[in-house]
Amino acid sequence: MRQLIAGNWKMHGLGAEAAALALLIKAGSIRAGAAGLACELLVCPPFTQISNVAALLAGTAVGVGGQDCHATAQGAHTGDIGAPMLRDAGAGWVILGHSERRQNHRETDALVHAKVLAAVAAGLIPIVCVGETEAERVSGQQNDVVGGQLAGSLPDGFAGVVAYEPVWAIGTGKTATEDDVAAMHGFIRQTLRRLLGDVGGTMRILYGGSVRPANAVSLLAVAEVGGALIGGASLKAEDFLAIARGARAA
Ligand code: 13P
Repeated sequence: MRQLIAGNWKMHGLGAEAAALALLIKAGSIRAGAAGLACELLVCPPFTQISNVAALLAGTAVGVGGQDCHATAQGAHTGDIGAPMLRDAGAGWVILGHSERRQNHRETDALVHAKVLAAVAAGLIPIVCVGETEAERVSGQQNDVVGGQLAGSLPDGFAGVVAYEPVWAIGTGKTATEDDVAAMHGFIRQTLRRLLGDVGGTMRILYGGSVRPANAVSLLAVAEVGGALIGGASLKAEDFLAIARGARAA
């Protein structure tokens, strides 16, 4: 399976900026197409830009995703967005359980589990994020934390994507070492096989946390790394595409 290089734009992008970024990524991916980009590309703009960006990227190989959805399809939930609405706006993917949602909105594994079911029912591919805090890593609990998040967040028959994003590496400029990434991705693979059987043996496990053009090639070369989930560097088309050029066909 090709590696997936996904940009999480977080809460960035007014109309003009989002359109300019989408068009630069589109142009870059088309140019790279001749040389054969080894990876699949995805951008996840804020809700308000999904339909604009999806229209600009229609007919290209760049996918579009949301950054969250509600656990039910519709209803009296002021300010929330249902998975069918994301699909209707042109998204094919959705990031769920990002640590910023888990921290800022107190999302639990049980809620993420319900959101995954809602996303799948709407025809979206979920990207479920897991990762430990710095304190949890310092005290050696990272496997327990990540193992618990996987067991609690992934429903039976899950067939989406998992993203390992150590909280201490997000937006900090600190990245996990290649050895730490290899150890954690190996542990996640083993856990996915135990929880999900054969499908857990092949699903993509992305790494996220301060991925930059300068560290992408080495991180993407680590065993069991199926791509990257990129925050800050995904807001510059040049950096996002440089990271994509570092991907390999796994
Ligand atoms: P940064 O790449 O800015 O560290 O963010 C990572 C992230 O949270 C992607 O979801």
